[in-house]
Amino acid sequence: MGFTNMGKFSILLMIGMMWCWASIAEAEYMLYKDPKQPQSVRINDLMKRMTLEEKIGQMTQIERSVASKEVMKKYFIGSVLSGGGSVPSKQATPETWINMVNDFQTGSLSTRLGIPYIYGIDAVHGHNNVYNATIFPHNVGLGVTRDPALVKKIGAATALEVRATGIQYAFAPCIAVCRDPRWGRCYESYSEDTEIVRLMTEIIPGLQGEITDDSKLGAPFVNGQQKIAACAKHYLGDGGTHLGTNEGNTILDSKKLFGIHMPAYNDSVIKGVATIMTSYSSWNGLKMHANRNLVTGYLKNKLKFKGFVISDWQGIDRITDPPHANYTYSILSGINAGIDMFMIPYNYTEFIDGLTYLVKNKFVPMSRIDDAVERILRVKFTMGLFENPLADSSMTKYLGHQEHRDLAREAVRKTLVLLKNGKSSTKPLLPLPKRASKILVAGSHANNIGYQCGGWTIEWQGVSGNVTHGTTILSAVQKAVDPNTQVIYNENPNQDYLKSNSFDFAIIVVGEPPYAETFGDNSNLTIHEPGPSTIKNVCGSVKCVVVLITGRPVVVQPFVDTIDALVAAWLPGTEGQGVTDVLFGDYGFTGKLARTWFKSVDQLPMNVGDPHYDPLYPFGFGLTTDPTKTT
Ligand code: BGC
Ligand code: BGC
Repeated sequence: MGFTNMGKFSILLMIGMMWCWASIAEAEYMLYKDPKQPQSVRINDLMKRMTLEEKIGQMTQIERSVASKEVMKKYFIGSVLSGGGSVPSKQATPETWINMVNDFQTGSLSTRLGIPYIYGIDAVHGHNNVYNATIFPHNVGLGVTRDPALVKKIGAATALEVRATGIQYAFAPCIAVCRDPRWGRCYESYSEDTEIVRLMTEIIPGLQGEITDDSKLGAPFVNGQQKIAACAKHYLGDGGTHLGTNEGNTILDSKKLFGIHMPAYNDSVIKGVATIMTSYSSWNGLKMHANRNLVTGYLKNKLKFKGFVISDWQGIDRITDPPHANYTYSILSGINAGIDMFMIPYNYTEFIDGLTYLVKNKFVPMSRIDDAVERILRVKFTMGLFENPLADSSMTKYLGHQEHRDLAREAVRKTLVLLKNGKSSTKPLLPLPKRASKILVAGSHANNIGYQCGGWTIEWQGVSGNVTHGTTILSAVQKAVDPNTQVIYNENPNQDYLKSNSFDFAIIVVGEPPYAETFGDNSNLTIHEPGPSTIKNVCGSVKCVVVLITGRPVVVQPFVDTIDALVAAWLPGTEGQGVTDVLFGDYGFTGKLARTWFKSVDQLPMNVGDPHYDPLYPFGFGLTTDPTKTT
């Protein structure tokens, strides 16, 4: 071979190699993976590549207990959730959470198209399933503050704590307008008043970030790695059910439904909420999970919501009575209503097989599947999940961060409502003096973080006891008083004990035990024993302030006369010092009822503006005190 032939050969070889290299590079360059491409181009490109199986996988959300790297990969699962109290291990650290979240993600990323999954959790008053997180007051207290800026800060703090565990999505806020306190979820509602609930949607820009001027109406908005996707729930009319029955029937004409329950959804969509959850409840007998007019017609078409609609937990199962009686029918009704992602959460193959069957046999048009997948991918692209699918372990420091605890403490101060102060208005009991010789702290809720936090804390139903980091009201009292003041704690003292001690005054902390969802439905709304006896015994012999820890107004009329001062503290969360900051006068009482306080349950439902309005304490009521400077 001469020199020229050698030359020709190597040129050919080079050309050949370049061609190979170029085609490899071309195979590797995929439009949807390029963050410089416009989002719609990325979505279109990705959807063109997806099989039906991959699309249905995206629409499937499963519980963490049935998830694994292998399941994520095999079924192309689009999302995983923690149900209430579902944690990778007891008292799991943020690192343990991150390892779990990332482990599932490696399964998703190892699929053909490598679409990241998203992890969702009920962070409804802080990151409440997580050990040592900051627990903020439940919404029923936050409504009292009427302070959207505060609630926005709580959203931002919650987003950081959720990200501290690697999670990118919260099933919050609940923007129910609770019209009947017999409902077990009334504490998840900010108010009976639509306008207050509307104000509180400011938590959404706190969780997700503030939309930019160029944001399109209805487009989901999540501003990067310090923020999380939010979920306005439960659409629509969850707080309006007959007799306050959880998952019940909201019987209303459309004017009232739209006037009372819809406005906060409108606001949420305008603020760029990424997802909306359908309600278990029905409107005039039709299950919301099957309501095409309201989900597709109103939310998607009229309000122009462009994020995804998620079902509630086994929500489609409950379309039939009994639940799960005809699952294929449930899938069909849910998908046709306009649900995009399905919180299955356990038996996902049944869902995947059922939906596949329905599509292949043309019961469900491909356009409906594409609408769902487009919305899910839009949320994932918007939040940068494709660029940052794995958790940032430098954020673990935010869990239970002191700044968040200070914020929660401030929130607690502003959620308190002073209902009574002194047997006569000229002799107020509050603020209490820090200097006294001996004071009594009593009541079932005085030394119990779990009770103080309520349902949706550590466990789905909440817990009893000091099971996570926080300050009980008892220890807050101990910290607040003068070092020479003797603080005696006796949960339920009897008459003899009270007589043989001379207390300057007593702080009694009683209320409801924790509950969630249907377990909280209650038609008598009395506080549980020994609460009423503690009040009677103690207030009978010592000057007393009663602090109520409840998720709603409860029956107090029978003993209100024996009480010297009465404070509604709702479900304040882990930062008990917020209560004592105000009891002892470092701050004044400012809270105004965001709910009507009834006299007796037979008045219910009774909301501000009703013709039969005759409350014990009206909506908007709240006595004030001035802060005392004790220096
Ligand atoms: C509740 C939702 C919650 C979901 C996941 C359902 O039972 O109604 O509010 O987000 O469970 O825990
Ligand atoms: C789950 C909750 C869910 C509830 C609904 C519970 O087992 O932990 O997250 O809200 O079931 O029934």
